[in-house]
Amino acid sequence: MKKRIVLLPGDGIGREVIYSTKVILNVIAKRFHYTFEFIEMPIGGEAIDQYNIPLPEVTLEACQTADAVLLGAVGGPKWDSLPAPIRPEKGLLEIRKKLGLFANLRPVKSFSALLHASPLKEKFIKDSDLLIVRELTGGLYFGKPSERRNNDKAVVDTLYYERYEMERIVEKAFQFARSRKKHLTSVDKANVLESSKMWREIVKEKSKAYPDVTVEHMYVDAASMKLITNPSSFDVIVTENMFGDILSDEASVLTGSLGMLPSASIRSDSFGLYEPVHGSAPDIAGKGIANPLGMILSAALMLRFSFGLEMEATIIEKAVNHTLLDGYHTPDLHIENGRIVSTDELVARIADKVEEEVLQN
Ligand code: NAD
Ligand code: IPM
Ligand code: MN
Repeated sequence: MKKRIVLLPGDGIGREVIYSTKVILNVIAKRFHYTFEFIEMPIGGEAIDQYNIPLPEVTLEACQTADAVLLGAVGGPKWDSLPAPIRPEKGLLEIRKKLGLFANLRPVKSFSALLHASPLKEKFIKDSDLLIVRELTGGLYFGKPSERRNNDKAVVDTLYYERYEMERIVEKAFQFARSRKKHLTSVDKANVLESSKMWREIVKEKSKAYPDVTVEHMYVDAASMKLITNPSSFDVIVTENMFGDILSDEASVLTGSLGMLPSASIRSDSFGLYEPVHGSAPDIAGKGIANPLGMILSAALMLRFSFGLEMEATIIEKAVNHTLLDGYHTPDLHIENGRIVSTDELVARIADKVEEEVLQN
C-alpha cells in the first residue's frame, strides 16, 4: 500500500504534535510494509510569513492530490492583529471549505487510565462514549467579510445555511447513529434562530428514514449543561458549526484534557483531513510538553476512515491506552501515581507499545 499524506504542521504546538505523529506512522509503515509518503506544506501563520496569505495555492493543490491530510494547528499572538481575511485561522476555514469537508467528527471517549484525570466525578463519565458530528463549512464562520463591518458604529456576522448543507450533515449523523447506539441528539437554538427552526424540521423529516434511531432535540444551552451532568445520556450529537466548536472543547473535559481529542473532517468519499480539536497553544509552544495524543489519535482515524486500515488504527489506540495505563503522560493530564514526561518521551513509549501490539497480532 502506498499513500501520499500531506502534513500541515501550522503554528505553535501544531508543529510539535505533527512530528510526533509522523514517528508513530513510520512505525506502522515499517512494520506492515506500507509506503507513507509525507509532503509538508505551509498553512496559517507560517504561510503568512512565507507567502503573505494563510492558504497558498501550492498547499491547496498538494492537498487536492493527496490521499489524506494531517493538520496540526494554526494561529498565535504574532498574527492576532491581522485583519480577519488574512489571519492564520482563515487558512483553516478556507481549506475545509475548498476541500468540501462538511462533516467534522469529534469522538469523545475517556481512556480507562484517565477516568480519574477529569475534574468530573468518575461515576458520571465512566460510561460516556459520544460522537459530535459538527457541520464544518457553513454558518457564522462563513459570513461575507464585506458585510461584517461597515463602520465602527455597527457590526454584523451572518448565519447563513442552505437547506442541502443541513440535509447532508444530518444524514451523515443518522448514519453514524445507526452504526452506534442508535440515539441522535440534535442540538440547536430553535426557540430563537430561524436557521435552527429549519434545522429541526430537517432532522424530523430525515428521522422518518431511520425509525431504528431515537431522536432527541435539545437547545444548545441545556445541552452544554447536560454534557457535564449526564454525558452518558448522549450517543451521537449533531449540530451546526459554531455550536459544535464550543461543545467539543467542553466535552474534552470528560477525557481529562483538550489535548486528548482527535477529529476527522470528511466529505462523501474516503478523503479526509485529520486534525486534533485543540489549537496552537501559544502558552506552552516550544516547551516540549504538548500532549500529542489528540493528533496521534487523529492519525488513527485517518488509517480507519481514509485507508480502511482498521487493525492498524486499533493498534495505535491500544498503544495509547497501554502507555497511559503505565502512567506516562504530559503535564496537561493528572494521573494518580503517574509520571509526567516530555512530548518526545511519551511518543517514544507509544512507539514501543505499537511495536509490542504488532508482535501480538
Ligand atoms: P488552544 O486549544 O490552543 O489552547 C487552550 C488551552 O489548552 C491552553 O491552555 C493550552 O495550553 C491547552 N492545550 C491545548 N492543546 C493542548 C495540548 N495538545 N497539550 C497540552 N495542552 C494543550 O486554544 P486558544 O488558546 O484559545 O487558542 C490559541 C490559538 O490557537 C489561537 O490563535 C486560536 O485561533 C488557535 N486555534 C487553532 C485551532 C486549529 O488550528 N484547529 C483550534 C483552536 C484554536
Ligand atoms: C477548531 C478551531 C477553529 C474552529 C478555529 C481556529 C477557526 O477552534 O478547529 O475547533 O473554530 O473551527
Ligand atoms: Mn475549536
